[in-house]
Amino acid sequence: MSSVRNITTSAILLALFAIAGTALVAVTHEGTRDRIAANERAALLRAIGHMLPPAEYDNDLLEDTIQVGDPALLGTAEMTAYRARREGRPVAVILTPIAPDGYNGAIQLLVAIRYAGRLAGVHVVSHRETPGLGDAIETAKSDWVKQFSGRRLGDPDEEHWRVKKDGGVFDQFTGATITPRAVVKAVYSSLVYFRDHREQLFAQETDGHV
Ligand SMILES: Cc1cc2nc3c(=O)[nH]c(=O)nc-3n(C[C@H](O)[C@H](O)[C@H](O)COP(=O)(O)O)c2cc1C
Repeated sequence: MSSVRNITTSAILLALFAIAGTALVAVTHEGTRDRIAANERAALLRAIGHMLPPAEYDNDLLEDTIQVGDPALLGTAEMTAYRARREGRPVAVILTPIAPDGYNGAIQLLVAIRYAGRLAGVHVVSHRETPGLGDAIETAKSDWVKQFSGRRLGDPDEEHWRVKKDGGVFDQFTGATITPRAVVKAVYSSLVYFRDHREQLFAQETDGHV
């Protein structure tokens, strides 16, 4: 009889521990998810701040978004574009294209384009390029992406919108041409997409799809 009671007590204790454990994991997961989301938003705002000073816009651009896509020009059928406005007037858009042809695969970018069509800046969000060869595309590693700032379609013309090794104006890296070539091409394609969709990109409704 007492062994039955022992087993029952053990079973109840085990069940209680299981319930408490599950609850703890659920609460931790919930808290961590919120913190990760907040950190991601802060990192995105910091990255955008390197290209477009916050003083230039007065809206909450992380909330003023539109879904856009174009596999040929943006490397994806679905991406978020962030719109910067000042007193309701369009200032710049931040596209989030993918350069599909890096040495080790996709390179995720932010491309900030002012309403008049000039590049406010380019930022590499993630990549798998080789450290010491292809990773100079990172803002933290070199100033290479800065050479895009202020450029627009026609400056330089299409024929020269290439790395120097291919007859263009943009620097490549020593022993690594594939990575910069992929980024140069993706930035150009983003400008073409912007030229063809500017008014739709700044359309007032949020979370529509171009
Ligand atoms: C192990 C290894 C890793 C490499 N990683 C890169 C890289 O991340 N980015 C890059 O552009 N080239 C990288 N290269 C060099 C390329 O293979 C290529 O030689 C270089 O980009 C020049 O390309 P091009 O001949 O088209 O101008 C790597 C080569 C090796 C052997």
